[in-house]
Amino acid sequence: MLPIRSNIRDMAGYVPGEQLNDPDIVKLNTNECPYPPSPRVFEAVRAALTGDRLRKYPQPLGDTFRRAAGRVLNVDPDGVLIGNGSDDILTILTRAFVPEGGLVLAPTPSYILYKSLAEIQGARFETVPFTADWQLPTAWPAGGHITFLPNPNSPSGTVVPLAEVERLAAAVAPAPLVLDEAYADFADDNGLSLLGRVPNLVVTRTLSKSYALAGIRFGFAVADPAVVRELVKVKDSYNCDVLSLAAATAAVEDQDYFRETRAKLLATRARLAAELPALGFDVTPSRANFLWCRRADRPVKPLYEELKRRKVLVRYMNYAGYDGLRITVGTEVETDRLLAELRSIL
Ligand SMILES: Cc1ncc(COP(=O)(O)O)c(C=O)c1O
Repeated sequence: MLPIRSNIRDMAGYVPGEQLNDPDIVKLNTNECPYPPSPRVFEAVRAALTGDRLRKYPQPLGDTFRRAAGRVLNVDPDGVLIGNGSDDILTILTRAFVPEGGLVLAPTPSYILYKSLAEIQGARFETVPFTADWQLPTAWPAGGHITFLPNPNSPSGTVVPLAEVERLAAAVAPAPLVLDEAYADFADDNGLSLLGRVPNLVVTRTLSKSYALAGIRFGFAVADPAVVRELVKVKDSYNCDVLSLAAATAAVEDQDYFRETRAKLLATRARLAAELPALGFDVTPSRANFLWCRRADRPVKPLYEELKRRKVLVRYMNYAGYDGLRITVGTEVETDRLLAELRSIL
């Protein structure tokens, strides 16, 4: 065996949701958008495939995207850091802030990648349980080099109010609070408004969910431009390629299409949240594009397995005995199918 670092040998490694290629599968397991990206994305990618664009390196900092994001989100373009998916951004942040033997903090149950990032870094990982109603505890451990807070959270889809986010940022300062806003586009509010006055806040976003670009891999962070200048030193020089930059820029520029897709998705989310309780599920009110569904009367893992056998794929999640199904909001037709299969199983 080659001398792989012991922390890598000892870790299990992050296991992403299943990506089955069967086109007949109703895929409701990794929170992808059920609608296609904006038509302008296809035009932009086609344009990027012409002439010299593939032969040359892309913009290292993604300046065209940064300007577009700056305009649309009303943030300083110099405070935008581009990433090959927001997972890349989370990796860059961990590498930049956490020394070997350092401490990474996150609430639980939440996004399980944070643990893997800590392990790769050779850092300790400590979780802090959410309260029963998915809010932050009153005390937060001291000494963290970075704190991750997904808001809305996965798997619950719940949000922590911005006043609480601000309180947590103050508690962990001067270490950064990373507000992982992968699902913020489906919520009513977001943390960008805090950026000016909360210096240790880093907001991360993805185009995988609300902009239907999971396959292209594009995410970004928004932070103090002085912090972004340091983070740039950590990232790969060309971490986003010509095609993903073209797609991401076109996607954020088409806000009419974005609003239309979002409205359809929120309508289906409301329908699903209303119908699943009638089938015996305890559904947590969601501000994301998925629903966290549990049941008191029977185990949910066999339900996941039976749905999968019937070609409806949802995510079974188990956090040390606390388990449930995380169901992505699909199209109306996919939702009909999910509900019909559940009715026939239950
Ligand atoms: C909370 C959270 N953060 C970040 C991501 C990563 O998204 P991506 O790397 O596709 O941008 C996900 C994806 O499922 C997520 O659930």
